[in-house]
Amino acid sequence: MNQEVEPEKRVAGDRPREQIPCSFVAFAAIVVLFAIAYFFRYSGGFRWDVYDASGLLAGLPPTPPAHGSAANASGGAAAKAPAVDPTALGRELYQANCAACHQPNGQGMTGQFPPVAGSEWVNGDPRVLTAILIGGLQGPVKVSGAEYNGMMPAWKTVLTDEKIAAILTFLRQSWGSHASAIEEGEVKAVRAECGGHAAPWKVDELGSLSGEKAEKKGE
Ligand code: HEC
Repeated sequence: MNQEVEPEKRVAGDRPREQIPCSFVAFAAIVVLFAIAYFFRYSGGFRWDVYDASGLLAGLPPTPPAHGSAANASGGAAAKAPAVDPTALGRELYQANCAACHQPNGQGMTGQFPPVAGSEWVNGDPRVLTAILIGGLQGPVKVSGAEYNGMMPAWKTVLTDEKIAAILTFLRQSWGSHASAIEEGEVKAVRAECGGHAAPWKVDELGSLSGEKAEKKGE
């Protein structure tokens, strides 16, 4: 009897089916959904330039500095970098002493504090500029096409020659300016010559200062 019944049961579809547990189906669904989501999140939209290993798209120069000239150039830069950045001290001192009025970006404040970024005074005659710092400045002055009429106190008792030179060099070589550096010795000379000037300079007086220089230079 048994032998007859069993095959009958199988045919009737009563055989044991392999059931997938509901919990596994749910788990698999979650994994698949996560994978799809991950794929779309990090595929970078399938853009061809997502992975720019050579840096070409960023406009970087080709990587290997293969030959003599390139190697020399990078060697020169490497040699320069560790040497003390002449403007680093100046930047620090500027932010500490000057940025309150002339602003951290050198743009000044409209109508109150003239800009030092791109100023014709900063980029002009080093002697005049140094004298402004040492003695201060008052009265009407035109800077970058705008009129100012304020007063900047003298810095001669606050800053040493070295510090003034560093700040002025920083100003003359920042924010797009490329004027010559100012040496400590130049500041010393100007201080010796006109450090005794009592009140802050007026623009007219400064004109004569640069005139003297022109004479000395034989211009
Ligand atoms: C208390 C505010 C104040 C501080 C701090 C100050 N200045 Fe000035 N500075 C002025 C004013 C105001 C003038 C314009 C004076 C005038 O109208 O005659 C001026 C003018 C100048 C000028 C000439 C005009 C120009 O903008 O190019 C220079 C250069 C200058 N300052 C540099 C400096 C430097 C460097 C420091 C830091 C050591 C400094 N200032 C700190 C207020 C300030």
